[in-house]
Amino acid sequence: MKYAILADVHANLEAFQAVEADIRRAKPDRVIHLGDIVGYGASPVECVDAVRHLKAKGICGNHERYITGVTSLEVVSREDKRRTIEYSRDALRPDQLLDLKSLPLQIATDDGLLFVHGSPRNEDEYLLTYEAYQENIQYLRTTMPDVHVCFFGHTHVPAMATAARVESKFEEKPDLQVVQLADSKTYLVNPGSVGQPRDRCAKAAWALYDSTEDVVEFRRVAYDIAGAQRRMAAAGFDEKLIHRLELGQ
Ligand SMILES: [Fe+2]
Repeated sequence: MKYAILADVHANLEAFQAVEADIRRAKPDRVIHLGDIVGYGASPVECVDAVRHLKAKGICGNHERYITGVTSLEVVSREDKRRTIEYSRDALRPDQLLDLKSLPLQIATDDGLLFVHGSPRNEDEYLLTYEAYQENIQYLRTTMPDVHVCFFGHTHVPAMATAARVESKFEEKPDLQVVQLADSKTYLVNPGSVGQPRDRCAKAAWALYDSTEDVVEFRRVAYDIAGAQRRMAAAGFDEKLIHRLELGQ
């Protein structure tokens, strides 16, 4: 079974379209999104429809929880970020809001996969430190011993961790990085962000996982960054948020 896994689209239609074309070339059996389709970018309506069109199954990110009122927007302290979330909330159609509200916090498959937004133990946790990775792998082994690979998002940084080793940011950042997994280990894997990469590479990121071969492909795709920035400028978003797309941070 081939899974296309995407995370943190963040209402960036230009990035999503480039990734979608790459996904169609890869011919996956299933498409999974790890949450945060909306927020930050200027195309929430188009992105929610596009994810639906791909027949992607997905989970709820913190941005979906903000716009559906599950989590209060008061916890978002940055004014520039809050404005983009309000923009998504106000733009989405009622049927789209209902769809987003019904997304689960986790999906587990019977072939040993788990999909979450933040971490296995906490949907809001940013997996960034060695200790946090180790604690979550221990958590998986204790509470969900059948999980072989847990895919997560939220940090917008491609990463792969086992109990012994954490690889993050992938210094060389090639457009395709293929990693063979080992059957006996437990993995945490972040495909990176489609719409707002933060590993100093501006290209859109996603991952293809072949569960038969047990191989993860980390993929990067160039997209029309200037086009996405023009939409954000037209929506009146903060200059810093617009500029960071071309920096990949
Ligand atoms: Fe996000």
